[in-house]
Amino acid sequence: MEKKFGLIGSTVSHSLSKAYFDEKFFNEGLRDYHYDLYPLKNVDELKTLLKENPDLYGLNVTIPYKEQVLKFLSDIDPFAKSIGAVNVIKIMNGKLKGFNTDSDAFLESVAKWFPNTEGSKALILGTGGSSKAVQFALKKLNIAFKLVSREKTLGDYTYQDLEKNPTIISTSNLIINTTPLGMTPDMNAMPPIDYELLGPTHFVYDLIYNPARTKFLQKAEMRGTTIKNGLEMLHIQAEKAWVIWNN
Ligand SMILES: NC(=O)c1ccc[n+]([C@@H]2O[C@H](COP(=O)([O-])OP(=O)(O)OC[C@H]3O[C@@H](n4cnc5c(N)ncnc54)[C@H](OP(=O)(O)O)[C@@H]3O)[C@@H](O)[C@H]2O)c1
Repeated sequence: MEKKFGLIGSTVSHSLSKAYFDEKFFNEGLRDYHYDLYPLKNVDELKTLLKENPDLYGLNVTIPYKEQVLKFLSDIDPFAKSIGAVNVIKIMNGKLKGFNTDSDAFLESVAKWFPNTEGSKALILGTGGSSKAVQFALKKLNIAFKLVSREKTLGDYTYQDLEKNPTIISTSNLIINTTPLGMTPDMNAMPPIDYELLGPTHFVYDLIYNPARTKFLQKAEMRGTTIKNGLEMLHIQAEKAWVIWNN
């Protein structure tokens, strides 16, 4: 029986989710399973998408709809509810249930890589859907963190605050980019921080995986930091989504 899965977001061409699931379906002999990219100009287009594709079983959700999609759900997993963002939707009899696999995927990925010692401090750049998942993971790992936002009211610091107080960056040993700055096709963009403040004691994680080495990671690496991109997180969250869709 034909089963369809896919990714919704405002721009989805950067995503490696289709390649991941196409390969998985091929390897597992699931010839009637398909994974497609569905760019939506606004989140309300989801209604039309569902009407036109009654054989959709599951969706991944990407930028900028992880929070906006909540209003379409009939049900939400308690874990996703406490995070306040959804990156996986399971569709059953036309009803949508939301889940979050980003948070545990980030947790698994960062825990293997970052030597969380007493006094570790993180800075999270951005306050959107994936930032909320990252915040939840850091709380579970007991890593103290502060949020950096363009808006004074959304975070603990603005980028101007970082400029005025260099110790914020120099004393935060884990820096995580959850903004889309640097993602393909806009590969020259990067978060506006002073990269000169970074050094070998810093661990720098970019949720972006396309390109594999963003400008943000390149600048950080040039300062001797330890860097990681979001590819492993993508794979872990995709496997977790697969388990949800098949349960
Ligand atoms: N590797 C993975 O598995 C994985 C998982 C999830 C997300 N991601 C990646 O993470 C990125 C963010 O995704 P998302 O779903 O969290 O998006 P989102 O909900 O739209 O949030 C992005 C946040 O970044 C900040 N931001 C947006 N545009 C900016 C700009 N021009 N300058 C500075 N800050 C800006 C905003 O925070 P402020 O308004 O507070 O500044 C915004 O809330 C995307 O590149 C996505 O592909 C990767």
